Amino acid sequence: MITLGIESTAHTFGIGMVTDRGKILANVKDSYSSLNAGMIPDQVAEHHQLVKGEILKQALREAKIDLTDVDYLAYSSGPGIDPCLWVGYNFAKELSEKIKKPLIAVNHCAAHLSIGKLYNQLKDPVYLYVSGVNTQIIIEKTADRKSHYVVLGETLDIGLGNMLDKLGRIMGLGFPAGPGIEELAKGGKYLELPYVVKGMDASFSGILTKAQQLYERKQATKEDLCFSVQETCFAMITEVAERALAHTGKTELVLIGGVGANQRFCEMLQIMCKERKAEFYNVPIGLAGDQGAMIAWEGFLRKGQYGDGQYDDRQYGEGGVKPHWRVDEV
Ligand code: ATP
Ligand code: FE2
Repeated sequence: MITLGIESTAHTFGIGMVTDRGKILANVKDSYSSLNAGMIPDQVAEHHQLVKGEILKQALREAKIDLTDVDYLAYSSGPGIDPCLWVGYNFAKELSEKIKKPLIAVNHCAAHLSIGKLYNQLKDPVYLYVSGVNTQIIIEKTADRKSHYVVLGETLDIGLGNMLDKLGRIMGLGFPAGPGIEELAKGGKYLELPYVVKGMDASFSGILTKAQQLYERKQATKEDLCFSVQETCFAMITEVAERALAHTGKTELVLIGGVGANQRFCEMLQIMCKERKAEFYNVPIGLAGDQGAMIAWEGFLRKGQYGDGQYDDRQYGEGGVKPHWRVDEV
């Protein structure tokens, strides 16, 4: 059985194909980027429109299958940027009508978590989901044989990735700025910045304001700011992640989402886990950020594996787009 997944919630348009055993047959994507601006929703949606046909062709070639070999079509129905979500949904619907196969609406955040669990073959991890929009610490709870996600802690304002992108924009690094910040940080030294952890939650906007002031007043170099922002923010998340492991007694921590591509972040989490005899896991860069394989796998888990007519179609059936669909509502 093959599930095709379409991702289009933010800057990436991607298509992946996954078998019912979790083998990734193809994972092709193209991401919108910009030299000096951020993400302009209509421009990103236009990017997705332009590349979708070619991405599909490449994904089919990579998987060495025909479109008619696909059994289920999953798409990211939210959360995300409205015009971008519509491009993915309309394309998925068009393909589903063409080959007469069912459509599955997938929660993008749950898909990030599921691919982290699949890749590392985990049992019951604490999930650290750090992407553009989201910064959340999540666990899975099972009641009445149904499992759902519980958010133990999250950002009180902006996601860490968005914060890094905003900082990058101020410093003229282009979008997305995470990789550039990671490079610059290698040549920086530490400056004190606000450290804001409240219980299990964290806040990043004050750090951004302080960094912006220091930069605009020429009181700090780009390198020092990148280093200090990384050290401060990653330490905050590491602190909260440690508390989550302590509270829950779980022994697996998995980092997913685009910021998970950052080596220094992984190193800090790795050290913390080692000290408390927990295991740290992450995913390769190709699976950390947005892509279609995670959407395909999540679609298979939610519906494909149960066959037709056995699942709650009000939630996962063809449901248009849901820009504000939280992971704890799945
Ligand atoms: P969400 O999953 O919350 O909807 P998203 O889909 O925009 O958000 P991802 O594709 O998972 O997010 O991640 C994108 C983010 O990851 C961007 O903010 C980008 O700057 C950041 N990022 C990518 N590489 C790195 C890196 N090496 N270091 C830090 N941040 C990074
Ligand atoms: Fe994402």
